[in-house]
Amino acid sequence: MERASRSTLACPQCTAVLERSADERLDCRGCTLTYPVRHGVPVLLISEATCRPIETDAQFDYLLDEALAAPFHGWDLSWLHARTTRSPELTNLEQRYDSRAAALIAQAEAVLDLGTGGGERFASYAPFPGAAFATEAYLPNVTAARLKLAPLGVEVVHTDPNCHNGRGPQPGNRWPERRLPFGNNTFELVLAHRAAFSPAEAARVLRPGGSLLTLQGVPEWRGETLAAALGGTPPEWTLPGLGWDVGETFRQSGLQIVDWSETSSTVLYHDIGAIVYLLLHVRWNVLDFDVDHYRERLYRLHQRMQSEGGFRLRGASRLIEAYRP
Ligand SMILES: C[S@@+](CC[C@H](N)C(=O)[O-])C[C@H]1O[C@@H](n2cnc3c(N)ncnc32)[C@H](O)[C@@H]1O
Repeated sequence: MERASRSTLACPQCTAVLERSADERLDCRGCTLTYPVRHGVPVLLISEATCRPIETDAQFDYLLDEALAAPFHGWDLSWLHARTTRSPELTNLEQRYDSRAAALIAQAEAVLDLGTGGGERFASYAPFPGAAFATEAYLPNVTAARLKLAPLGVEVVHTDPNCHNGRGPQPGNRWPERRLPFGNNTFELVLAHRAAFSPAEAARVLRPGGSLLTLQGVPEWRGETLAAALGGTPPEWTLPGLGWDVGETFRQSGLQIVDWSETSSTVLYHDIGAIVYLLLHVRWNVLDFDVDHYRERLYRLHQRMQSEGGFRLRGASRLIEAYRP
């Protein structure tokens, strides 16, 4: 420890010099992180660092506390509605999805909703036909979805998260964990609202003539991301060129596309509380988000949002309807 001079060790978060503090920790001179020293060994893991207190303002503290205390259950993000403004194109596309899903359900005898979350959206399409299933891979939502959907006659199935891999299982029984646990030719309708899936698997479980309806966020954001604004880590699949190539997997699946509508959209987040709520619950915006570690960066963003009138996330969404010939 003594041999590591001040200029040798750097903060893994921001690369600034680390300085020994009065209480034998290593304080970063560039950001507010402070690292422990255990048994003489500097523990230079961001996850082990804590934040030195920073001066903020009363409004920031209020908005943060409010976001931390706000309810979140299943996939119910309605707390954000009053704190964001969505562009009309996005609202229109969502409404088109909802009305088309309801119309297709009304004609089907067997339906499946992939990645149902807490089942809130799927539940809104009730009544359901005799055979109605929903899959969910995220354990807290499996329970939430069952509570919501079982009374409506929908059976919730707990699936492997790999079922959301767009490439699906491969010949030779490779990646069987990506397989949807349903027999061939089972459903007349497969839905996937903002949940990734394998088009080949959807085609396999659809009956000939059956439909697939999906709404997908296009992962290649067209503006400043929250990860960029906060200097955080995004998932690789949100980076240009590394996401799910939906077009390619559709071509391989043999599904015939009848509608492919794409629209760019913006969502304006009014205040830092709305941003914190999003980061807490939609974890894939910034993978390493933690309120304590990010407090200083959040405060800077709060000040910026006050002067710019909020933070605008730009993106694109696509609605795809296809059928199995
Ligand atoms: C964007 S949600 C869509 C849910 C639903 N189809 C809807 O549109 O309301 C996609 C999936 O991510 C899951 N999910 C949510 N939070 C998660 C987390 N922290 N880790 C892993 N999966 C999560 C949800 O349960 C859901 O299956």
